[in-house]
Amino acid sequence: MLEIRPGQPHDLAEIAAIQTASPGAAAWPAADYLPYDLRVAVCENRVAGFLAARTVAEGESEILNLAVAPEFRRQGFGRALMESFLRGVRGAVFLEVRRSNSDAREFYKSMGFHELTLRQDYYSQPPEAAIVMKFHSC
Ligand SMILES: CC(C)(COP(=O)(O)OP(=O)(O)OC[C@H]1O[C@@H](n2cnc3c(N)ncnc32)[C@H](O)[C@@H]1OP(=O)(O)O)[C@@H](O)C(=O)NCCC(=O)NCCS
Repeated sequence: MLEIRPGQPHDLAEIAAIQTASPGAAAWPAADYLPYDLRVAVCENRVAGFLAARTVAEGESEILNLAVAPEFRRQGFGRALMESFLRGVRGAVFLEVRRSNSDAREFYKSMGFHELTLRQDYYSQPPEAAIVMKFHSC
């Protein structure tokens, strides 16, 4: 049984563990997500994945991070998190993803995002270009 709900302080340890297991994702200190729109996907009392996003300006928002624990991948948790977020926004949604992260790029394309541009040297540790992706919600 899958539930999407707002992320809470007691979820932070599980969010941090998912980040550690997801080297392709951003790695913020988990508590830094709390001021933003933080959602978790919960399955049998475990946090299976999370999405963090913020409003940049009216009609523009940004996905800060999205990751699903490896053992829960390809079961629709990422899609459920993203659909939950997209249902509530209007306008443009942007995100950056590592160029080598083909799994995530395919996931975002399957959700209706398109690849907008490439930012050289965007990431460090390890250094890599970012692909900027955009979704438009009417
Ligand atoms: C990207 C990620 C969040 C996707 O989450 P998920 O729960 O596995 O994705 P879903 O099961 O909801 O997949 C939805 C659709 O996305 C596409 N998709 C997802 N993973 C894919 C993969 N590895 N390869 C190709 N397409 C993929 C498919 O179309 C899939 O539908 P299908 O399973 O019916 O074919 C997950 O792979 C992940 O946590 N990766 C590590 C963290 C990361 O890189 N985050 C991105 C940071 S920018």
